[in-house]
Amino acid sequence: MSVPRQIGIETRGALGVIYLRNAPVNALGHALRTAISDAHRAFCADPEIKAIALVGLPKFFSAGADIREFATGRKPPLLTEVIAQIEAAPKPTLALIGGVCFGGGFELTLACDIRLAAPNARFSFPEIRLGNIPGAGGTQKLPRLVGGPAALDIIVTAREVRAEEAAALGLCAEVLPDLEAALLRAEAMAAAGIERQPIGARAVPGDISEMDAAAETALGVARGALAVTRAVEGVRMAYDTPLEQGQAWERETFIELNASDQSRAQRHVFFAEREARKVPDLPRDTAPREITRAAVVGADSAGAGIAMCFARAGLPVVLIDTDAAQIERARARIAELWDQARDGGGIDGPTLVAQRARLELSTELHAAASADVVVAAVSEDMTQTQEIFSALDRICKPGAILVNNGATLDLDSIAQATRRPGDVIGMHFLQPDGAVRLLEVVRGARTAPEVIATVMALAPRLDKQPVLVGVCDGLVGNRMVRAFGREVQMLVEEGATPDQVDAALAGFGVDIGQQLRDACAGAQGQPPRAPLTEDEIRRRCLWQLVNTGCRLLEEGIALRASDIDVIFVHGYGFPRFRGGPMHHAEAVGLSKVLADIRHYHEMLGPRWAPAPLLERAVREGLSLDAAMTSEAVA
Ligand code: 3HC
Repeated sequence: MSVPRQIGIETRGALGVIYLRNAPVNALGHALRTAISDAHRAFCADPEIKAIALVGLPKFFSAGADIREFATGRKPPLLTEVIAQIEAAPKPTLALIGGVCFGGGFELTLACDIRLAAPNARFSFPEIRLGNIPGAGGTQKLPRLVGGPAALDIIVTAREVRAEEAAALGLCAEVLPDLEAALLRAEAMAAAGIERQPIGARAVPGDISEMDAAAETALGVARGALAVTRAVEGVRMAYDTPLEQGQAWERETFIELNASDQSRAQRHVFFAEREARKVPDLPRDTAPREITRAAVVGADSAGAGIAMCFARAGLPVVLIDTDAAQIERARARIAELWDQARDGGGIDGPTLVAQRARLELSTELHAAASADVVVAAVSEDMTQTQEIFSALDRICKPGAILVNNGATLDLDSIAQATRRPGDVIGMHFLQPDGAVRLLEVVRGARTAPEVIATVMALAPRLDKQPVLVGVCDGLVGNRMVRAFGREVQMLVEEGATPDQVDAALAGFGVDIGQQLRDACAGAQGQPPRAPLTEDEIRRRCLWQLVNTGCRLLEEGIALRASDIDVIFVHGYGFPRFRGGPMHHAEAVGLSKVLADIRHYHEMLGPRWAPAPLLERAVREGLSLDAAMTSEAVA
């Protein structure tokens, strides 16, 4: 038979093998679903074949459903239909799993009788991050396999289950050294004969009362996310509802959630994150420089955190401070943080030993001489920073990248203090060694393309989400937060209580943070007017963010409206299910947002002057990004 390019076919004794080959990530788009379905049917019809194996790419069994199809609608065979076909087939199917096995890919393996994993296998249900629940049997079959509480934890946290844990949970029968070893095992099993083991025939182990605590934990962290509530409902249903009925509920819920604003917002964030890693004006062949060694100058908490972040990423790093007392404080602080991480189970002993070995401390600036990248986490004083960059310029090897960490100083003025302005760039870590993933990468007027490419490629190694921004005081995030904070204070001065502001924003999913709460508490309320409603409080805070965001786009400081969303979701706790401030504004309707802003402009004065980009977008009926492009074209 002719084989479509999305798969490969092989016969190994009594085993028919279907290789999934839909690069880059084996997303289960229409062509791949069709190819799997046809090949599976053909093997079932072949009397020489006793069992069928599905094998993915070495690093991607499958990343799940093709998310791009969610907006356009899916054509048959649907994934649920391919799964039903495999389950109803006269012959057993095995899944041989290496690398990513996510979402619908994971569900495809749950339709199989036996799962064999390679050591790099990673199972996950990321649907919750897309504002949805697994939609091809996951909520009904996973509890039957691993129990309700464990299944709910996997579904609502979207955490990855690695091969070893998967074997312990019973998610896979065995972990073999690699996919070839798994193929040999599958071939032997096929020859010996495989007993059918459908997950759907099992009952969920344990009692439904075990779900109470798990459900409470899940709903406690949901912050208004619809999908979490539905996931709890679905897993409970698996205990006492026939599989078919549970799956029908799941399917309907998946379709309903897919059409929700929350899911649309989260799909927007997914693609925005990936878009943010791309730099439109870099020549395609720009090769990043090799980074094998780092140095961090300045051993206060920020510098120490950045050094730990490099060490965690596997890069040898030296933390430098000419103040010996500061270095000793940093040494003690780092040891304490690592011990805490180990005691809390966040890091195991051997990993900790390896990280410690990678991090040196020094009081000599010359220790930066051999580093490929040097991050200065020093003061917010321009003269002092320029002196340090000038010294680093003399000390560091040619080609070393000099980085300023910070959001206030002008990067171009810092670069002028060196003879290598092309090698100077900014990396603004909000919380270098913590859970905050945002990294604003600051491009100076003279930063070289390969330096930008290097730092954008370095960010994921450091487990950070990069967003490229231009030079201005506060960069994108802090400048917008300042406008937001100023509005919060004005609201309090007009008579809103800090609790009211807090509640209005918490109801939307935004936590205004302790610093802002403290600032509000100090403000003197002088109510001049009718009491403020929650809705007005929320709109004023959010539209200040949006109007300032539009100005940052006009100024070229932010590249895309979606980049601003990524900054707020990853750096400032903006709820993912709202999609970020700019997406939220577009979802509400830019003309409504502009009408509010004009109204506040009349009522509250110049800080509410509408951004010209917003006015143009509304006038021309365009999205913000399209309005930017239309201006560029004009
Ligand atoms: N559908 C469509 N495109 C996808 C995709 C998916 N499921 N997963 C990844 N891609 C695309 C990305 O958009 C990117 O495209 P681009 O190069 O044009 O920007 C390309 O594949 C590579 O992706 P990454 O840059 O993210 O590559 P990484 O190696 O860093 O990460 C990954 C790979 C871990 C698979 C990550 O992409 C990921 O987490 N993907 C999302 C997986 C997911 O959410 N799956 C669930 C889908 S919903 C579902 O299955 C419903 C079911 O229950 C019915």
